Amino acid sequence: MKQTSQQTQDLLNFIDSSPSPFHAVDSIKQRLLSNGFSVLDETEKWLLKPGGRYVVIRDDSSIVFFVLGTKPLVKSGIKIIGAHTDSPGLKIKPQPIIHSDGLLRLGVEVYGGPVLATFSDRDLSLAGRVSYKNEAGMIVSQLVHFEQALLRLPNLAIHMNRKVNEEGLKFNKQTELAVILSDSVEQQVSAAYLKQLLASHCEIKPEQLLSWELNVYDTQKGCFWGAEQQFYSNSQLDNLASCHAGIEALLDEQTLCSGNTVMAAFFDHEEIGSESSKGASGCFLSDILQRMTYAVELSDEDYRRTLAQSFMISADMAHAYQPNFPSAYEPEHKVNVNQGPVIKINSNQRYSTESVSEAMFIHWCELSGVPFQKYSHRTDIPCGSTIGPMSSARLGIRTIDVGNPMWAMHSIRESAGVDDHGFLIKALTTFFAE
Ligand code: CO
Repeated sequence: MKQTSQQTQDLLNFIDSSPSPFHAVDSIKQRLLSNGFSVLDETEKWLLKPGGRYVVIRDDSSIVFFVLGTKPLVKSGIKIIGAHTDSPGLKIKPQPIIHSDGLLRLGVEVYGGPVLATFSDRDLSLAGRVSYKNEAGMIVSQLVHFEQALLRLPNLAIHMNRKVNEEGLKFNKQTELAVILSDSVEQQVSAAYLKQLLASHCEIKPEQLLSWELNVYDTQKGCFWGAEQQFYSNSQLDNLASCHAGIEALLDEQTLCSGNTVMAAFFDHEEIGSESSKGASGCFLSDILQRMTYAVELSDEDYRRTLAQSFMISADMAHAYQPNFPSAYEPEHKVNVNQGPVIKINSNQRYSTESVSEAMFIHWCELSGVPFQKYSHRTDIPCGSTIGPMSSARLGIRTIDVGNPMWAMHSIRESAGVDDHGFLIKALTTFFAE
């Protein structure tokens, strides 16, 4: 298997073991611990050494990790890759049980902007975090991941929805999205049914369980496809594919030997606007940057000089051209799968790219021998955004928005190109190591 296929297989394994942002952060943490990183606790005093490898996690689903370089920070700045750990989808409501007509269903809330129709007729299950009181009376959290298919959203037969192929498959968010969990459960036990299921999964008593954050996920594993297996598909490519590329680049020997201070910052809550204590619009990244410079005894002015010398690549997926739908794309800015990472440009600053950061990224692509593409959204359709504009506004760090081309962003089954994953890792490694 060639190297890019191996890197992509590793990405598919990472996604398969990360059915929620909590699990994604835990998977990343395990990988970092086995690569010599140590965890910094935000409630403790930090003692950092040049060459040290550190990881900080906030509320289990946002993660920042860095290698403190041997070069002076004010001279070399900090090289940062940003991405997000969350994906749009369905979250279980706090009182989800709907018991009627011989079926037990779970009520769901829509998180961010998923393509809802793609959630129907799939082998779904539950993953996330629960909090409970342990035997000693302490509140503890535990990740839960039901591996077997547990839930389903059956679509209507065409005999009851004759215009589905002309008008599209639509779901009312309140009345038509509840997912089926079981049949004919006794009426009196139904309210506690999910609690019992979670408690037995966590090996605790149902009365110990206090709260949960659970999302619906697709149990189908990732795979390669195409005549030469040159494409891959899975859920959550937006944006776990970019997280994975960032990890690979940061752990590359060239990066680790460079003496540069390099950092990756992966945030939860991007899909809902990033406005939270652990989101990209919050203080998580600035807190860490500030504490890093305090720990190496830099003055406030030197902290700002360091930021002015720093650079951030905000990595998030881009929209690949799908020739069945030509009118959805800007005709002069089609970007294709397997033709290299995409520089995302928007003059209304939905993307943080400006001409200097763009030129710098092109330089890193050229040094790596990696092709690149430029994307502009159709002017008559509103453009999405990323963490790039927010974090650059907050920190004043020069930033660019890039990402690999993919099809069907926000579908529960997205797909992209194997070569692109290898290309992005190469370009990000050159950025870190140069
Ligand atoms: Co995204």
